[in-house]
Amino acid sequence: MLLTTENIDQLIVGAYIVAGVLFILSLAGLSKQTTARMGNIAGMIGMVLALIATISASVWDSYLASVDPDPLVQATRQSPLMTLALIVAVLLIGALIGTPIARKVEMTQMPELIAIFHSFVGMAAVLVGFNSFAVPDGAGGPVHLVEVALGVLIGAYTFTGSVIAYLKLSAKMSSAPLTLPGRNILNLFGFVLFFALMIWFTISGTGADHEPTTLGWILIIAIAAIGFLLGFHMVAAIGGGDMPVVVSMLNSYSGWAAAAAGFMLNNNLLIITGSLVGSSGAILSYIMCRAMNRSFISVILGGFGVDTGTVAASSDEHGEHREIDAAGAAEMLRNARSVIITPGYGMAVAKAQYPVAEITSKLRAQGVNVRFGVHPVAGRLPGHMNVLLAEANVPYDIVLEMDEINEDFAETDVVLVIGANDTVNPAALDDPGSPIAGMPVLEVWKAENVIVFKRSMATGYAGVQNPLFFKENTQMLFGDAKQRVEDILRSLDS
Ligand code: TAP
Repeated sequence: MLLTTENIDQLIVGAYIVAGVLFILSLAGLSKQTTARMGNIAGMIGMVLALIATISASVWDSYLASVDPDPLVQATRQSPLMTLALIVAVLLIGALIGTPIARKVEMTQMPELIAIFHSFVGMAAVLVGFNSFAVPDGAGGPVHLVEVALGVLIGAYTFTGSVIAYLKLSAKMSSAPLTLPGRNILNLFGFVLFFALMIWFTISGTGADHEPTTLGWILIIAIAAIGFLLGFHMVAAIGGGDMPVVVSMLNSYSGWAAAAAGFMLNNNLLIITGSLVGSSGAILSYIMCRAMNRSFISVILGGFGVDTGTVAASSDEHGEHREIDAAGAAEMLRNARSVIITPGYGMAVAKAQYPVAEITSKLRAQGVNVRFGVHPVAGRLPGHMNVLLAEANVPYDIVLEMDEINEDFAETDVVLVIGANDTVNPAALDDPGSPIAGMPVLEVWKAENVIVFKRSMATGYAGVQNPLFFKENTQMLFGDAKQRVEDILRSLDS
């Protein structure tokens, strides 16, 4: 086959379409644990294909410019080898920084890593916006200027918003919401100002021949500044408890920022992938809000949450709690016919999933019906518990969603609540004044016996007291979850 411009263009478009389909297959695969590995592989192949196609397109463009007789094109030419070298250098820098970070990050730190990565996407969209304003790829014109303005605003918002989310999640900044007086009016003013500047930019941003004007530069820098300020202010106003939703929301924005960059660069694949990330992030944010019984708008407008995340609880209004030791818990498990384990953030912190998996297989070998009940927002990121349990080789078919298992607690002998708190709090259903009122929870208290593994009587992430700890059928097993589960394993063996 002859290497004509047309052939190469068709090959690149073909590769982009295949990559786009692989990304869609990847998302579909990631929706179930059994197909998640395939989904990841599809995504990786799609990404390699997309990279090869994009790099080839850039190198081919450089080659065409280098043989073009037009002096205007000649002036901007760069040798194809130089283009390739620059792209490889940038890829290497990214890989050298990213690989060690990704290798050593703990599962519990994943949301903050994702947040800081989103900030890079945001900044990239701002820089692409500036670049595409200076040197438009294509005809330029008002539509292009709207793309530039939107891309720069969304990118700048995503950048500062993600940096603030990272600082809050990594406890480098107070997680308390910043509640300036009239903060909603301030946000509204920011958006109205943006629209006014965007219209002005579209009319006066470029002169004859689509050359950027000085006024155009002032306006686009002002639009970036509004985006940076809005991102800072809106995310700073959101409390630590809502931060995982914010990370998913910023994930969505980073997708739209990438899609905007795709429009500016005339790159269809970037438009497809940006839209996929943008819409899946938005759907995920919606699912998380629903699982916490919060409206999306109330999360975005912020103001919810406590400063420290957990506060020491007083038992005055709830009565006394009972305690059990590991030997007692092992005895109870030995006599049980059905056991449900409800894990939470504490299991992730303690890395207790491995001994939990061992207890599970031991009890199952003795004929006990052991299952897991996973709350949609248990832990600190979607699917957190599922990933940990899969890592410890717990069979998928005994890991059930909250809706699948909630009816079964009443017929269960023993429930082990391992490092979960808010997700098993009956106040969400019984106390209309509770900050988590209305949030669907695992109704563990309906079981005959409940054993709660935690280190103290402190509250969970939402900072609310948990009446479960004071119920007649509940016993506390204090200490690090991993050590206590290992103690139970030893008792079961003896
Ligand atoms: P939490 O309510 O945060 O409770 C975790 C419990 O684990 C704490 O009470 C803590 O008590 C205990 N713990 C911590 N380290 C431990 C250790 N080493 N050993 C034993 N226990 C330990 O957890 P949850 O039930 O999983 O609820 C998740 C919370 O995060 C909810 O409020 C949810 O709304 C919020 N959230 C989650 C998401 C997602 S997507 N997952 C999104 C947004 C918000 P001690 O300190 O006494 O040990």
